[in-house]
Amino acid sequence: IQHQSKSTVLIGKKVLISAGPTREKIDPVRFFTNRSTGKMGFSLAEAAANMGAEVTLVTGPVALETSTSRIERIDVTTSEEMYQIMHQKFFEHDIVIKSAAVADYRPKVTFEEKMKKQDGNLHIEMERTKDILQSLGEKKTTQFLVGFAAETTNPLDYGIKKLKKKNLDAIVINNVAIEGAGFGGDTNIATYVNKQLQQEEIELASKYNVAQKILSFIIRDMKDETP
Ligand code: CTP
Ligand code: CA
Repeated sequence: IQHQSKSTVLIGKKVLISAGPTREKIDPVRFFTNRSTGKMGFSLAEAAANMGAEVTLVTGPVALETSTSRIERIDVTTSEEMYQIMHQKFFEHDIVIKSAAVADYRPKVTFEEKMKKQDGNLHIEMERTKDILQSLGEKKTTQFLVGFAAETTNPLDYGIKKLKKKNLDAIVINNVAIEGAGFGGDTNIATYVNKQLQQEEIELASKYNVAQKILSFIIRDMKDETP
C-alpha cells in the first residue's frame, strides 16, 4: 500500500474499519472463505491515519501489513469474532466503515477431528451468520456508519436497499462484475451514496485514491449533519 501526503482533516476523530474476509471452520484443516484480500479496508485505514485520525482496523486473515502506529490492528478469524470486536469497539469511534467481506453462512457443525472421506457426495449444512453491519445500524447513536455493497447486477438498486435496511449514513457500492473493481485487485471503481441518496461516482483509481475519496465524502456529509 502506497504512502501519500498527510493532512489534518481527521485530527481528533476515531475511525473503526473492518477489512478482509472471514473464515468459517469445517474441521481442523478446512474452512469456507471468499475472495477478499483486505486491500480496500487497509487502504481506508492508511488514508484515514494520513488524515490525522486514530484508527482501529479489525481484519480477517489477510497477507497485508500495517505501516503506521496510528493504526491499531486487531486480527480476527470468524464472523462471530468480528461481530464481538466490532460491537466492543463501536461506541468509542466517530466513524465506522465496514469494508470486510463477512461470510453470510457458516457450517452448522464444526468437527473436532479431520473429516474422513467417504463414498458418495458430502452435504454440509450451513447456517446464517449474524449481520454485523445491520446490528451496528440498530444501536447507532452519533456514529457515522458506512457499509459496502458488492453486487454483480443492479448495483445501485441493491446498494440503496442495503443503505436503508441497515440504517447506514452512507454506502460504497461496488459492481464486482466490472474489470478493475472489487475483490483482489489494486484498483477499484465505486459509487458512494449517502442517506439523502446523493450519489458520487468514483472513477477507476488505486484503492488508496478511492479510499481518500470515500473519506472526503464522509467528512463532507458529517459536516452537513453537525447542527
Ligand atoms: N455485512 C456484515 N455482516 C454480514 C454480512 C455483511 O456486516 N454477516 C456487511 C458487509 O461488511 C458490507 C455490507 O454488510 O459492509 C454488505 O455486504 P454484502 O455482502 O454486499 O450484502 P449482504 O447484506 O450480505 O447481502 P447479499 O450478500 O445477499 O447481497
Ligand atoms: Ca453477503
